[in-house]
Amino acid sequence: MRYSEDFIEKVRAANNIEDIISGYVKLQRKGSSYMGLCPFHNEKTPSFSVHPGRQTYHCFGCGASGDVFNFIMEYDRMSFQEAIVSLANRAGIAIPENDVTPEQKKAASEKTRLLNIQKDAAMFYYYKLHSQEGKVAMKYLTDRGISVETIKHFGLGYTGKSGSGLYGYLKKKGHSDRDLKESGLFTFNEAKNTMQEKFWNRVMFPIMDLNRKVIGFGGRVFGDAKPKYLNSPETKLFDKSRNLYGLYLARSSRAKSMIICEGYMDVISLHQAGFTNAVASLGTALTSQQAALLHRYTKDIYLMYDSDTAGIKAALRAVPLLRSAGLNTKIVDLKPFKDPDEFIKARGREALEERIKKAENGFMFEIRILYESYDMTDPQASSDFYHEAARKLMTFSDEIERNSYVASVSRMYNIAPEVLKRQLGKLAMQGVRAEETPQMTDKPYKKKENKTGDRAEKILLSWICQKPETIDMVREYVGSEDFSEGLNRIMADSLFKMYEEGKFNPVSVLNYFEESSEKSDAAAIIEGSLLPEKEEDFNKAIKEVMLSVKTASLERKIENLPLSDMAAFQRVMAEKKNLEEMKKNI
Ligand code: UTP
Ligand code: MN
Repeated sequence: MRYSEDFIEKVRAANNIEDIISGYVKLQRKGSSYMGLCPFHNEKTPSFSVHPGRQTYHCFGCGASGDVFNFIMEYDRMSFQEAIVSLANRAGIAIPENDVTPEQKKAASEKTRLLNIQKDAAMFYYYKLHSQEGKVAMKYLTDRGISVETIKHFGLGYTGKSGSGLYGYLKKKGHSDRDLKESGLFTFNEAKNTMQEKFWNRVMFPIMDLNRKVIGFGGRVFGDAKPKYLNSPETKLFDKSRNLYGLYLARSSRAKSMIICEGYMDVISLHQAGFTNAVASLGTALTSQQAALLHRYTKDIYLMYDSDTAGIKAALRAVPLLRSAGLNTKIVDLKPFKDPDEFIKARGREALEERIKKAENGFMFEIRILYESYDMTDPQASSDFYHEAARKLMTFSDEIERNSYVASVSRMYNIAPEVLKRQLGKLAMQGVRAEETPQMTDKPYKKKENKTGDRAEKILLSWICQKPETIDMVREYVGSEDFSEGLNRIMADSLFKMYEEGKFNPVSVLNYFEESSEKSDAAAIIEGSLLPEKEEDFNKAIKEVMLSVKTASLERKIENLPLSDMAAFQRVMAEKKNLEEMKKNI
């Protein structure tokens, strides 16, 4: 649900940033701001500052910055919407009902009913597991090394042998047939008008969303029957591509990284052994939505996929997918064991920690698997390998990063770095450019930025925030369309608009951004670059910055000019002339 800007501002106003943050961090007054130890990175001397005037925080050590919503999002690992609700609750502000449309209300109440069915079913299964009938299932789980606490922690259950009781139980709880048909727990036989339980004689793994609400189940047979696991179908509640098993626990583990494995049992064993940052995708390949979800909590992923060929294939798919979501991935070698569960049982926690320390860089893993697929005694095959490796290296758009991988690859595979570089140069000449492999680029708004232009834009925005009285002058020369698309333009647009409407409050610009990384980029701009001390220096500096912004904007326009549009061409040329004039006046 989206909340209105008025509501968001009300919540912000009711939550003083210094009050909220001092609940987490010990703050000391230093002039007009407060300082403390940064909660987002390890440090011994305080470089974390809270600015009550601007209602922002900024860490000079790690660069973390933002407003009160940002802080809660980062610290409590919440989405923007969740942070709003949490802060509204703290301040005792009622969540507005009238922000909800009648359709949303109806959907919400249906969702609540469906969630209640899943919750009741999980209870039913849980009791069954602890009943006489459940002894066999309990034995199965304990034989697999799962403790009673872990069973409780994950809410594991048992269906019952023949799968009779669930329907009657849920009916008695007051659920309607219509809702039960939507629950994914039954198959409806139209001819006979009966509801058949989908799961029977299985151990049940409830799947929970980020709010710890059960949204579906996985069920495992005891023996070798097929299918080994049966999962809830997709329902109005359960979207497999947007959830991860165990994420509701892993997200608050406070570990710096996340572990992705393949199975329910792997997650459970890992958590039981203390790796509380483990999650699994739900019987399907990892999706980009899941990668984006993980990116909310971490930048570093350890893949613990099965050590068979299927696992390697899955890892080869996952590495670039995670990379395109901005995540660094390392591959953990579990050999000679099949999966994390078996590894832990055989070798224990410390041995796994060792393997984690030795995990292989995701890109080097890709190259190694590629290498192993070629017969390097064959000259043609080995030259194919070098070509393919060079092509993969091209996908790094950052030169420094690319060079460091060139160095690693040449070291590892005994290729002279010059040879590899020459190959890269050739590919570049052929027009194979880094940008053509989108998975390696950053956030969309960073994609095509012109570095100096972008910096000038950000400085200008920052100065506007700190000296609103300059806006009139700035707008004589620069419009919001002169800022490059994405973050900068959105900021310029909203700052100008706010100024026009007479309510200039830069921090509220942060409401335009939902992504935490965008929010903190925007917050960094608001926090700002230093102003030159002397007024005349400032006047000169701001003109120079405007000039850079304008020049970059014009270059963009010229680049994108349709050849046939004479009028547009003349307009741009006129602007160019103006710019020359402006240069003379500075
Ligand atoms: P695995 O076959 O690797 O099983 O499936 P596992 O996790 O090691 O299971 P145990 O240790 O024998 O109990 C990995 C994951 O793939 C999905 C499940 O999510 C499982 O946890 N899967 C597997 C299915 O959805 N259906 C199946 O029939 C098999
Ligand atoms: Mn297993």
